[in-house]
Amino acid sequence: KRMFAKMMHRHLKKGLFSIEEYQEYARKRLPRSTFDYFTDGAGNQSTQQDNETAFKRYRLRQRVLKNIAAPDMSTTLLDSHVTLPIGLGPVLRKSWAWPKGDLCSARAAGEYGICEIVPCYSEQSLEEIARVNTESIKWLQIYLSKQAYHKELIRRAEAAGYKAIVVTVDGHWKRIVYSDWRNMIFKHMLKTTHGNFNGDNFIKAYSQHVVEHASWDDIQEVTKITNLPIILKGIMEPEDALLAIKYGAKAIIVSNHGGRMMDSLPGALDVLPNIVKAVNGEIEVYLDGGVRYGGDILKALALGAKACFIGRPLLYGLSYQGEEGVKQVLNLLKEDLERAMLCTGCKSISQIGPSVISEYQLAC
Ligand code: FNR
Repeated sequence: KRMFAKMMHRHLKKGLFSIEEYQEYARKRLPRSTFDYFTDGAGNQSTQQDNETAFKRYRLRQRVLKNIAAPDMSTTLLDSHVTLPIGLGPVLRKSWAWPKGDLCSARAAGEYGICEIVPCYSEQSLEEIARVNTESIKWLQIYLSKQAYHKELIRRAEAAGYKAIVVTVDGHWKRIVYSDWRNMIFKHMLKTTHGNFNGDNFIKAYSQHVVEHASWDDIQEVTKITNLPIILKGIMEPEDALLAIKYGAKAIIVSNHGGRMMDSLPGALDVLPNIVKAVNGEIEVYLDGGVRYGGDILKALALGAKACFIGRPLLYGLSYQGEEGVKQVLNLLKEDLERAMLCTGCKSISQIGPSVISEYQLAC
C-alpha cells in the first residue's frame, strides 16, 4: 500500500514514468495532424525506428561497490559549463504543443542549466527567448541561406548572447512524410508565424531565404561572418565529419534529423563510433536521434559523444504541461542517467568510456 502511495505521489508530483508515456499522453491530447507532425518519420520511417533500435542493441556492464554517492553529471560544451550532457534540440512549432512553447522550453533549459539550441524558425524571436533564459547557454540554429539574411540573424544572435551558430546541413531537400500530406499539414503551417521573420509564415519565410543548393564553400562563408563557433548538424558519415573540420566547424552533431528527412539511413548511434574515430578528438561530437532513456545518453557518451540532444521528448513534455512538462522530461532523463552512472560505476562524465559497454550485444 505504501509503495503504491509512493508511486502515486511521484505520478502527481513529477508526472509520468517514461518518455513513451509522455508520447502516449500527447497522442491522446493533441489533434491527430499535430501529433503525426511531431512524431512521424520520412518515407517508411525506417531511419526514425533505427535511431531508437540502435540504443537497444547495446548492453551496459554493471560494476558494484564503487562507493559513489551522487555522480557529477556536469560537463562542458565548447568550454561552456552545463549541468548535464543533455540539451534541447531545435524543434519547430512548439506552440502547437503549448501556448508560447518556445518560452516554456527556454525557461526549463535555464532552470536545468542545460544547453538549448533555438531554431531560427521559432515562433518567438531569438531575443525574446534569450530574455527568458539568462541562466544557461543558447545556440542559434540556422539553415544556409542568402548571405545578407545569414548576416542579420547571426548579428542578432551575437547581440543577444548566443554562444554558437548551429548550421543544419541536412534540411536542403524536400522531405516526404506521408501523414503530413494526408493531414494537409501545410494548411496549418500557413497559419503559424515566425518571430525572426517579421511574422511571415513558414512557407513564405523558408522559400524566400533558404538556398536549395548548398555547398561546403557556404560553410566557409559563415565562418567568415562571425567569431562564434560554427557547429554542423546532420553529419552522418566520417568523410563529411572530416570536411566539417576542414571548412572550419568547431563541433558536429551526428544526426539524421530524427529520421524526418529520409528513410533508409542508419540510426545515428550506429554511425557514431566511426565518426568519432575519424575526427580523432579534433572537434567535439554530439548526437541526437532516438534518445529516450538515461542509459541511451550513457551509451552515446561511451561511444564518444560529448553530449546528446532531444527533439520529440521535448515536444511530448510540452504537450503534457508546458514548462513543467519539459522539466519533468528533463528530470526523468537526469535521474535515469544518474542511475546508469551509479550502475556502471562512473563518478563523473569523464569516467564514461567504452569500458561501460558490455560485450553482450543484441542483434536487433
Ligand atoms: C525537428 N528537427 C529540426 N532540426 C533542425 O535542425 N531544425 C528544425 O527546425 C527542426 N525542426 C523539427 C521539428 C520537429 C517537430 C521535430 C520532431 C524535429 C530535428 C531535431 O532537431 C532533432 O534532430 C531530432 O528531433 C532528434 O531526434 P528525436 O530526439 O526527435 O528522436
